[in-house]
Amino acid sequence: MKILLVSSSARGHAVAEALARSRHKPEIIAVSPNDNIGIARIADIHMAMDIMDFPAIVEITKKHKPDFAFIGPDDPIGGGLADALEAVGVPCIAPKKSLARIESSKAFGRQLMQKNAINEFPRFMAFHKADRKLMNTFITQECHDQFVVKYDALKGGKGVKVSGEHFKSTTEGIAYAEECIQECGTVVIEEKLIGVEFSLMSFVTGTSVVDMPAVQDHKRAYEGDKGPNTGGMGTYSCPDHSLPFLEKSDLEQAKKINRQIAEALLKECGEPYQGILYGGFIAVKDGIRVIEYNARFGDPEALNVLPILESDFVDLCLGIIEGNITEEMARFSPKATVCKYITPKSYPEAKEENGESVTLPIQGGRKDSHIYMGDISRNARGDFLLGGSRSLGIVGIGSTLEEAENVAQKICSEIQGPVRFRSDIGTEALVLERVEMMKKLRS
Ligand code: AMP
Ligand code: GLY
Repeated sequence: MKILLVSSSARGHAVAEALARSRHKPEIIAVSPNDNIGIARIADIHMAMDIMDFPAIVEITKKHKPDFAFIGPDDPIGGGLADALEAVGVPCIAPKKSLARIESSKAFGRQLMQKNAINEFPRFMAFHKADRKLMNTFITQECHDQFVVKYDALKGGKGVKVSGEHFKSTTEGIAYAEECIQECGTVVIEEKLIGVEFSLMSFVTGTSVVDMPAVQDHKRAYEGDKGPNTGGMGTYSCPDHSLPFLEKSDLEQAKKINRQIAEALLKECGEPYQGILYGGFIAVKDGIRVIEYNARFGDPEALNVLPILESDFVDLCLGIIEGNITEEMARFSPKATVCKYITPKSYPEAKEENGESVTLPIQGGRKDSHIYMGDISRNARGDFLLGGSRSLGIVGIGSTLEEAENVAQKICSEIQGPVRFRSDIGTEALVLERVEMMKKLRS
């Protein structure tokens, strides 16, 4: 069994590890934009290259003839790497370009829901022309001046701007909307929702959908959800695979929406979605709404769920390719997980190469923790050197959230160097805050 893994970062390391655990003992041929020391340790062949160079990746598959490819990041998925590889006979765990519009175009995502009467979305309008008057009317009358402006293409997680956070006035928001239209032709403006966000990722093959545990991400840089947005500073999941602030009906609803989206995509694009469908939801006063969809594993969400996947990940990938997956093929242990990202002190303000060294604790085969390598390298002397982005995904696993948090927190505090992490992620205090917020919103 040979697998081509196109990935990067700590999420790629977690995927490589899950593939390598398989009874198939696959040969892994990995390509990443830069050397990833975690992936390099696991893969049989590891190449650092431009993962948007599709002809070069096609050549690699012609040489190595993998049984399938797993594509991790949004850019190659959104750009159509699955189309290029499937054209030369390599099945992919990742949707084709047309299906990946569920992530790469905000307008496509919203319109797909509207067209298929999947009604859990905020009031929105897509604009192709900078009609200031119409934008202003929509923002004031439909959104009551609480609004979100969304760039209609992939922008490294930086395309969404929210009133009250990124802009102080409607005029500033409209100026950003105009910028979006100039750059990518379309902008989505929508009502700002108030509530608590969560992620529900599912494995999908056509209309068969099997869910992963629900996860909560923390996008803000600093403790107490303060500071700028980041790629995600950490995440947690619970032993019952739900989250403490969700009603049973909320999770059921999210599962139903992921299924409706898979069906709608098949109908719209005329071909099956094969891969991971990531629903970004928000629990609001009267149920849940969709914030966004991604066509891939979340980062860090993958770091929570993959280590507790008990069934064989390669068998699951083969099932996705064959169009047949069952609950049994995606069995997760009833454990809590907490992931905390270690980042350079300067993250996310400065993203340039950092180069300072850090010392990691000796791990020694612990079953209740993982250290996933992100933007971090090693020099000839064996020192770990920080890059500019998220360095290490530290995952603690336990029977309770408290146990998992303690494990992750202990490892994080043993890492020495010019780094930081969020101590509050996965703590009872922060979780209770969310529970209280939902109680208040719903009362
Ligand atoms: P997205 O890239 O669509 O996930 O948006 C990034 C972040 O913007 C989300 O995680 C939310 O925190 C926020 N966001 C997006 N859409 C909305 C909305 N309609 N209401 C409130 N917050 C939103
Ligand atoms: N954790 C958010 C994302 O992967 O987009």
